[in-house]
Amino acid sequence: CGIVGYIGLPEKSVEHHALDVLVEGLRRLEYRGYDSAGVATVAGGAVEARKKSGKLANLIAEIEQVPLTPASVGIGHTRWATHGGPTDLNAHPHFGDDGRLAVIHNGIIENFAQLRQRLSLAGHVFESQTDTEVAAKLIGEAFQNTGDLTEAMRQAVNDLEGAFTLLVVHPDQPDRVVAARRNSPLVVGLGEGENFLGSDVSGFIDFTREAVELEQDQIVTITAGDVSIINFDGSAAAGKRFHIDWDATAAEKGGYDSFMEKEINEQPKAVEDTLLGRTDAEGRLTLDELRISPEQLKNTSKIIVLACGTAAYAGTVAKYAIEHWTRIPVEVELAHEFRYRDPIIDASTLVVSISQSGETMDTLMAVRYAKEQGARTLSICNTNGSTIPRESDAVLYLHAGPEIAVASTKAFLAMIAASYLLGLYLAQLRGQLFSGQISDILADLHKIPAKIQTILDSAVDIKSLAQAMAQTPSVLFLGRHVGFPVAMEGALKLKELAYIHAEGFAAGELKHGPIALIEEGQPVFVVVPSPRGRDSLHGKVVSNIQEVRARGAKTITVAEEGDEAVREFSENVFFVPETQPLLMPLLTTVPLQIFACALASEKGYDVDQPRNLAKSVTVE
Ligand code: G6P
Repeated sequence: CGIVGYIGLPEKSVEHHALDVLVEGLRRLEYRGYDSAGVATVAGGAVEARKKSGKLANLIAEIEQVPLTPASVGIGHTRWATHGGPTDLNAHPHFGDDGRLAVIHNGIIENFAQLRQRLSLAGHVFESQTDTEVAAKLIGEAFQNTGDLTEAMRQAVNDLEGAFTLLVVHPDQPDRVVAARRNSPLVVGLGEGENFLGSDVSGFIDFTREAVELEQDQIVTITAGDVSIINFDGSAAAGKRFHIDWDATAAEKGGYDSFMEKEINEQPKAVEDTLLGRTDAEGRLTLDELRISPEQLKNTSKIIVLACGTAAYAGTVAKYAIEHWTRIPVEVELAHEFRYRDPIIDASTLVVSISQSGETMDTLMAVRYAKEQGARTLSICNTNGSTIPRESDAVLYLHAGPEIAVASTKAFLAMIAASYLLGLYLAQLRGQLFSGQISDILADLHKIPAKIQTILDSAVDIKSLAQAMAQTPSVLFLGRHVGFPVAMEGALKLKELAYIHAEGFAAGELKHGPIALIEEGQPVFVVVPSPRGRDSLHGKVVSNIQEVRARGAKTITVAEEGDEAVREFSENVFFVPETQPLLMPLLTTVPLQIFACALASEKGYDVDQPRNLAKSVTVE
């Protein structure tokens, strides 16, 4: 869910109406959830709220019909449903018993059933199915007893278990917004005569570049002129101030129809920026954001990569390269599985988490678990100051710029590039590769952005194929070696964006089962390895192509430029420029992204905000 809060001096409201600030923030945070949206403002001794299921546009239309009194304080929410379907009633805000205390919430209150039972027995009446309303009743009750919102929040949060960011306003204390956070993101934006709250900095990036980070289990009270922070036990705390170096325009569409198209087209720059400034004058890799000593890194006996979704496929690509270059065993595991299977970890295990947002709860919990077990933790992340890098021993930032479209594209390539840097750095420390070999690979990596650009420049053919295939009910994707996770990612993009049944397989596995799916006309994408090199798997993949064609499949291949042999076996072929086999995913992924995006657009779907998804899933 996305959360915003605002308070300004009443005279400030000439410049900024609370509602405008909230709506602008929600617009930028909508990628976090878009099942429903709501706002509550406080003016003239009353709280006013509007909430609506569906996207933010529905809420805006509702407010146009039933306008709100101009106000200088308010809270806003865009929801990704957990407890209770995406209805108007379940949309936030929710209210305390007096109907005047308004609460919005991100996260899951795990003991909500017990609390709800207790509160119901005590006579509280619930209107919605949400866990949030339980928090609203608790805070409301405490506010009646104390008359102070901050203290009421403090008493209530100590009864809550799970993950939450909560924001509350009440017309009896109209000069403040009070917020609390546990295991769920919240940042404060500092203005002049006004202050802001957001799930992340994009919630207020149009208004200020100065922000404050909160720690776990803290409560913040913002007024127009002050920000004060306490811990859940009531002791005073100080937040950490930071400057936001993102450009607000980087979070705009800049001429493209969608953020997704923009981000696909930004990939040359994303990879370039990830690689930027990572070598010293002698051409040696220097990853100075790593706060684990070179000695400790050198003695790594095993690497475990933890991630979810697209990031996990980046991790699988990384496994092939890191093992090859460093001879350190690498396991890749979905973060939500890892923690519950009693994994074997010790102080020589390096746990590498990969996350665009740095907030994915499954990944965060797995990292915490690994830390508790004594592992060293390194975060590969795109979002500065987010929770996972903050809690990790070391961080390698992607510097890919804000990724707004819900399904990941440029962050995927940047994650691969960053994990390659890590692999090469480990190989350098361990003396596993000669410095000449490392600099050759680095030089080839630096050539990748221009090669991605040539793929983007010839996207028109892929787009027209996608348009022609809009009615396809299912698509299969095959790959071997690093082409295997690329096939998985190609299938995931198609599921996410176009809601088409798509599966990725290791091409060699085909004959062990999935080949039964092939029937006349079944489209199969095949990621073909380079035909060059002694150990090329090219021949094997060509055999796999033959196997599916013999059973009626329509094959669409992504192959290396000059690989004329595959033409004969392909209905359609998309060429990518030559590079080292291990670097190929940085190129072969791109046509698959373009395909999924174009096909979904052809079907009229919203590629930035696909149904049921959220960009940053901050619940387990
Ligand atoms: C969500 C998104 C996916 C993303 C995954 C991991 O499920 O919808 O697109 O790959 O989270 O996100 P992260 O921010 O940890 O990379």
